[in-house]
Order: sequence, then structure tokens, then C-alpha cells
Amino acid sequence: MEVVIFKNADNVASRGAGLVAEMLNVKPDAVFGFATGSTPIDLYRNLVARHRKGELSFRHTTSFNLDEYMGIAADNPQSYRTFMNREFFDHVDIDKNKTHLPACESSENPQLVGPEYEAKIEQVGGIDLQILGIGYNGHIGFNEPSSSLSSRTRVKTLTRRTLEDNSRMFTDGEFQPKLAITMGIGTIMEARRILLLATGKSKANAVAAMVEGPLTAMCPASVLQMHERVTVLIDEQAADGLIYREYYDLAHRENRALKKRFGEFYASG
Ligand code: PGA
Repeated sequence: MEVVIFKNADNVASRGAGLVAEMLNVKPDAVFGFATGSTPIDLYRNLVARHRKGELSFRHTTSFNLDEYMGIAADNPQSYRTFMNREFFDHVDIDKNKTHLPACESSENPQLVGPEYEAKIEQVGGIDLQILGIGYNGHIGFNEPSSSLSSRTRVKTLTRRTLEDNSRMFTDGEFQPKLAITMGIGTIMEARRILLLATGKSKANAVAAMVEGPLTAMCPASVLQMHERVTVLIDEQAADGLIYREYYDLAHRENRALKKRFGEFYASG
């Protein structure tokens, strides 16, 4: 993994946006995997600002989100579709018909929705750049601890910890779904490039387990150790538990020098 540590969350967001911009330069019709949650919001704001300045366009892109709650309609204020429209899609020139979430209406069979979502990803040639956050418990998407490392898009029951973490988004008495449909870990691993963002000290344990811990379904993000092109962008606080911190800084400096000579997409995991 390429681990890059920044002073603060703003720097993480702007480097993340820089990598999205690099991808768009190389491939204007890139297929993106997008994530919801608090962490990527600053990244989306940064991208919107760059778009407004005329620096980048999403006109030819396609996107697939990691997950969506079960049992709430797309126009529900709590749906991830609403989140993506509000935080990003409404403010850029992306064609909403080419933005996808694994939504499952209550009349639909989730066992069919998952494979259909996978088929759509395959039809467009797979995901070029997948953006990820990480849960306090090491989840990616809604792949909670104990998820199969080969899993595909399917229904997951959320852990009590995830429900508690996300309860901050819901008002008292508001329906909070306990089930979600999420891309599987196997699905995520097929993205050609992965960008994981984490900020704040509450993520330090999960980041340390992902980067330096054993490969285990108990920390689903640790599977990223098996992916060839993962860039982990974190701030000082999220880096707090890393033993090899100094090494990552050194490797990052060396990689930057190599990138200058051999092109932006030089990356070493
Ligand atoms: P957060 O969620 O960005 O809101 O912390 C991350 C995640 O659960 O993947």
C-alpha cells in the first residue's frame, strides 16, 4: 500500500481530488466508485470547486456507489442517492443516468439486485478508481467484520457499532435501516485503482489494523493489502497508530521523485 500522511483533513481532501483529476486527464470517461459518509464530503467539495473553475468535467464518466440502505426510497432524505445528489452530483456535469447505487425497492428481491449491479459494472468495463472510507471497525462499504473476503454485492446486516456511529445522521424517532446492500469485498478488489481516505483520531486503530495488522475478515479493510494499487490518504491523527510511519513518509518522497520522472501514474504499493 502507498500510505501518504498529511497535516490535516483539508490536505487529504485536496490530494484525493488531485488524484481524481489525474484520472480524468488520463481517461475522461473513467468509471468511478464513489463512497458516502462524512470523510469524502470535503473531497466532493474540492471536486465541485475545481469543476466550477472549469478545471475538470465529469460529463463522460460513469459511477457506482458502494452501498445503499435497504427499505428506504431513493427520494428519502436519508438515502445515499439523496446524499450523493446533495453533496456532489447536483453540482457537477455528471449525467445522472450514468450514476448508479445498489438501490433495492421493497418490492425487489435483493438476491437479484446484487448480481444485476455487478453485471452493470462489468458491462462498462469495471471500475477505474474506487474511493473508500473506513469504518471504526475496519469495514469498507458496509462489509462488516466477518464478511467474506470474496463477497459480491449483497445484503448485509449492520453491526450495532455501525448503527451507533451512523445514528448521528438520524433524528430521534426517524427510521434507521439495519440492512444495506453493499458491493462485496471481492467486487471492491476488482477496481483497478483504490483510494482510501481516513481522517481523525477515531480512525487510528482501524487504519493501523488495515495497514499493519494481519489479513483478516475481522478487519475487512486489511484485504487491501492484497491489492496492487491502493493509495491510503490519511491525516496525522488517523496515522497515530502506525509503527512504520517514518518509512511511509520516506517512501512517499521517493515515489514523488519517481512520479516526476516517469509520469503521474507511477505508484508503488
Ligand atoms: P465516515 O464513514 O466517513 O462517516 O467516518 C466511513 C465508513 O463507514 O466507511
